[in-house]
Amino acid sequence: MENKYFINRRRIRANEHIRELAASVFLNHKEFIQPLFIDESIKERTAINSLTDVNKDTIETMLQQMEADIQSGINKFLLFPIPVEKATKVFNYQFVTEALSSIKSRFGNAVWVAADTCLCAYTLHGHCGILSEDQKAVLNHESVNALADYALQMVQAGADCIAPSDMMDGRISAIRHLLDQHGFDATAILSYSAKFSSQFYGPFRDACNSTPGQSNLLKDRKTYQSSPFNAEDAILSTLRDIEEGADLVMVKPAVSYLDVIYRIKQVTQVPLAAYHVSGEYQSLELLAQQGLVERNLAHIEVWTALKRAGADCIISYASRYAKGWIEKIQY
Ligand code: PBG
Repeated sequence: MENKYFINRRRIRANEHIRELAASVFLNHKEFIQPLFIDESIKERTAINSLTDVNKDTIETMLQQMEADIQSGINKFLLFPIPVEKATKVFNYQFVTEALSSIKSRFGNAVWVAADTCLCAYTLHGHCGILSEDQKAVLNHESVNALADYALQMVQAGADCIAPSDMMDGRISAIRHLLDQHGFDATAILSYSAKFSSQFYGPFRDACNSTPGQSNLLKDRKTYQSSPFNAEDAILSTLRDIEEGADLVMVKPAVSYLDVIYRIKQVTQVPLAAYHVSGEYQSLELLAQQGLVERNLAHIEVWTALKRAGADCIISYASRYAKGWIEKIQY
């Protein structure tokens, strides 16, 4: 032996067979959720310029899209409505409830639909809740009441899961209580519990016309979304939401917050979703368009990182490709 300190680490990397055997993380398309955007103002499917390969649908084209997605192995969805009518206090949820009931009458329980529950697409100012008269503050109590009412209407229309993304305090217990009172104790809540005030929502806000602060004094969401400088706040919010009744929790964005995914997983057994948000998704798409990464492999690599960090399920704008891409992974 020439060098007793020589340690061979390359045997385990030598060929695909041994790399497959040695792999400890495997992706499965069953753990993916596909977001869907429906826009009340359009007459036909419309591309979202800021999000490559993602469309806004009418209710009819959404049903066609879901049909195709089921064929590609995706049956879990996260629904984002973009209503025409904007208001400040009293909102009209008819468009999304119509969409939910048409999904259920077409697909029944063959699909699972989580309804994003937030007011930002409904408010004139783009904030996730109701503002005070002087427009300087997002009112917690009033916002939570409106959100709970919104959640109930969506569950009555057929939503399988309520996914509150507003980050108000107490909304999980308010929603849980209202749903239980109306006999919907079987409906799950997926809380956007560790949601950071992030730059990476840019393309989404562009798509939903929900950029805050266009006509008011509050220019950002820092008074309700967690600070990137305070991971502990996001972890405490998550533990609080679990106590209030969240069945699943979420870290969002995902890639810049892998430490938060990891840390939440250390302190709770509640299933954890990682949301690879619009800006994160689009940064890979732009690299791919420039020929700097291979699109599918780049997404797969990021998804694998989310699983390694501890995510149990993944929300990605490319979820509909998960099955096909995963089948072709070469270890
Ligand atoms: C609504 C909401 C947002 C996202 C999901 N729900 C935007 C925001 O908080 O501004 C972002 C999703 C994404 O960027 O992919 N509150």
